[in-house]
Amino acid sequence: MARINHETTSKIVADFGSKPEMLVQILQTIVGRFGWIPEETIRQLAEELNLSRADVHGVVEYYHDFRTAEPGNHIVKICQAEACQAMGSRKLTDYAKRTLAMSLHDTENDITLEPVYCLGNCALSPAVMINGKTHGRVDEARFNELLDDMRGSD
Ligand code: FES
Repeated sequence: MARINHETTSKIVADFGSKPEMLVQILQTIVGRFGWIPEETIRQLAEELNLSRADVHGVVEYYHDFRTAEPGNHIVKICQAEACQAMGSRKLTDYAKRTLAMSLHDTENDITLEPVYCLGNCALSPAVMINGKTHGRVDEARFNELLDDMRGSD
């Protein structure tokens, strides 16, 4: 994924009319196109939108999807919301952390492991999303298969 630069940030801000109230949409656009928001982009957004850096940081930290570190090529998300928790997503998350030897929000070996809060797949919980595709009723064995498929797609 390309890295955002100064010029592109300015263009995105202009596309939203340089309005501070459009900050969330601007951040969504940046993450959608570039996968994450570097610190220098946060600084630039604050300047161009006439906000404090703390304002922009506050919004970035509030939303789980607004990453501030470059993700790996593979993104594994495990649902932590209520229906999935009731069906064992905590245990599955622990298993994923052990198997991948990383914590949530970490990136190792080109894989980023993240929590997500409802994938709209509650009837088939616990749910996992790998590289944008949702999978339901994921137990440890299925998780291993999904990881193998993911690695096989490289
Ligand atoms: S609670 Fe996990 S998909 Fe809805």
